[in-house]
Amino acid sequence: ITNRTFTMIKPDAVDNGYIGAILNDIISAGFKIVAMKYTHLTAETAGAFYEVHKERPFYADLVRFMSSGSIVAAILEKDNAVEDFRKLIGATDPSKADAGTIRNKFAKSIEANAVHGSDSDENAAIEGNFFFSALERY
Ligand code: CMP
Repeated sequence: ITNRTFTMIKPDAVDNGYIGAILNDIISAGFKIVAMKYTHLTAETAGAFYEVHKERPFYADLVRFMSSGSIVAAILEKDNAVEDFRKLIGATDPSKADAGTIRNKFAKSIEANAVHGSDSDENAAIEGNFFFSALERY
């Protein structure tokens, strides 16, 4: 499981037509797609997904934004997946993301930052399990 991570293409990137370009970058970087779905979060499910941020000042806005449109959720596989994926996407704030990273290329703001990437192996498993049944993430 330590070679897996979880990602979402967020509503801003879906609305801007970047699904294909972002998936191309992910696959070109050597990640294999284990499971993937085009779906959407409700206020309730986004609130549950981001429960760890409940006390943060940006929580309400984050939940509203993440339930504002369609998303793509995926489980990805690669050696050192969590760390390598975070390098591929760049800093949370796109103005601080290195050139060539997904957030540098496709994100507009710290909230509408194009993609999510798990921050640990433990959270990668929790987040993948949130969206995918055992059958789907074989
Ligand atoms: P993500 O990696 O999906 O996890 C938490 C999200 O909160 C983060 O991406 C950002 O999109 C969002 N967010 C909004 N405002 C902030 C902020 N000030 N600091 C950190 N994260 C923020």
